[in-house]
Amino acid sequence: MTKKRLKLGIFGFGCVGTGLYKVLEEAGSVEANIKKICIKHADKPRPINKKYFTTDKEELLLDPEINVIVELIDDAKAAFEIVSKAMKNGKAVVSANKKMIAERLPELLKLEQTYKVPFLYEASVCASIPIIRNLEEYYDNDLLTSVSGIFNGSTNFILTKMINDHVSYPVVLKEAQEKGFAESDPTLDVEGIDPKYKLCIILFHAFGLITQPKDIFNFGISRISDFDLNFAQQRNYAIKLIAKCNKNGNEITGFCAPTFIEKEDPLAHVKYEYNGVVLESAFSENQLMIGKGAGDKPTGSAVLSDISALTYDYKYENKKYKHVDKNLKLVNNGTYKVYVRYNDTFSNFEDFSSIEEKFTSPYGNYFIGSINLETLSQSQWIKNKNINIIFIS
Ligand SMILES: NC(=O)c1ccc[n+]([C@@H]2O[C@H](COP(=O)([O-])OP(=O)(O)OC[C@H]3O[C@@H](n4cnc5c(N)ncnc54)[C@H](OP(=O)(O)O)[C@@H]3O)[C@@H](O)[C@H]2O)c1
Repeated sequence: MTKKRLKLGIFGFGCVGTGLYKVLEEAGSVEANIKKICIKHADKPRPINKKYFTTDKEELLLDPEINVIVELIDDAKAAFEIVSKAMKNGKAVVSANKKMIAERLPELLKLEQTYKVPFLYEASVCASIPIIRNLEEYYDNDLLTSVSGIFNGSTNFILTKMINDHVSYPVVLKEAQEKGFAESDPTLDVEGIDPKYKLCIILFHAFGLITQPKDIFNFGISRISDFDLNFAQQRNYAIKLIAKCNKNGNEITGFCAPTFIEKEDPLAHVKYEYNGVVLESAFSENQLMIGKGAGDKPTGSAVLSDISALTYDYKYENKKYKHVDKNLKLVNNGTYKVYVRYNDTFSNFEDFSSIEEKFTSPYGNYFIGSINLETLSQSQWIKNKNINIIFIS
């Protein structure tokens, strides 16, 4: 097969954009050259020759020589405009924008189909871990039942630093932002929204299900207190922000929530900005993939891998989606064991099907109970900032 020579138009030169530039230069093996880079702020100092830069998106989108648009900006709305115009102009697209992909997948699929251009986005899920292409190609014939794990590098970095290094939450959040691990809007990370975007993309490639992020339950790590950390230490638990989807017949459940896991659980050893993906399937049973889930070069390497794949005209076949059981649907009907910590009083015990343990003290109170996911997601008490919940694995 002859390799195509690619001319790249890149949007965004922040953490991932500069990472891509570095890995493209250092690898030297991919048949691709950068022609132009579109950024937002013309006056920002840049580490490379300013002849590359423009703030005029048309310079890239209308250039007939540019055959690949690499979209690496931090604005999902603007990203959709760029990506759709690029596809309409017959250009292949590579993106890392999980928010845009999770929220607008049906429109993006339509564009891809109508204009017959490949649209690849490996970096959008767990950065350096090659999960999408594996779900597409390797897990095509095996019966996947569940995909779960740590899908957010920034919160895993924060939790590891808080628990192992005893650094306070505001200090470590700032460090995660400085290192480029956190999203521009860190609430997307710490409230468990970013891993939910990734879960939506995984649901599509693992099971062929299109779902909206708003339909998946999420809870973040911003309410975790010293009391919760002490509880974890006493029980020999690690705390991880876990995203999980499970297939049972034609029903799929999914959630993203902080979770106590046993210290022996392989995911407990996934630390700092690393991510871990556990795949469960009928024939291969359990498998774990670990890799850096954030940062310039690790994320840049996944983008580079997509660019390299384009030199061979690779595109996602979306086989699971094409052959999906039309009755497959997302449901919130599982029952989960949850630790609930509250400051003063808690008066909604009737939401729980059983209570296993209760503890009150001048320093804080908690109970452990089992609750249906739908009841939990519809509850009002969960909005109270003085209440924290952590799932128990
Ligand atoms: N950081 C990570 O570890 C990571 C990992 C996986 C995926 N991602 C995803 O990768 C994307 C980029 O993230 P990042 O961390 O690199 O963001 P970032 O460091 O904040 O950089 C964003 C870049 O986008 C440019 N930009 C913003 N709006 C623009 C517009 N309308 N037109 C042209 N350029 C625009 C900015 O221009 P200026 O330089 O002029 O401000 C900047 O160069 C996001 O979708 C993010 O979710 C990031």
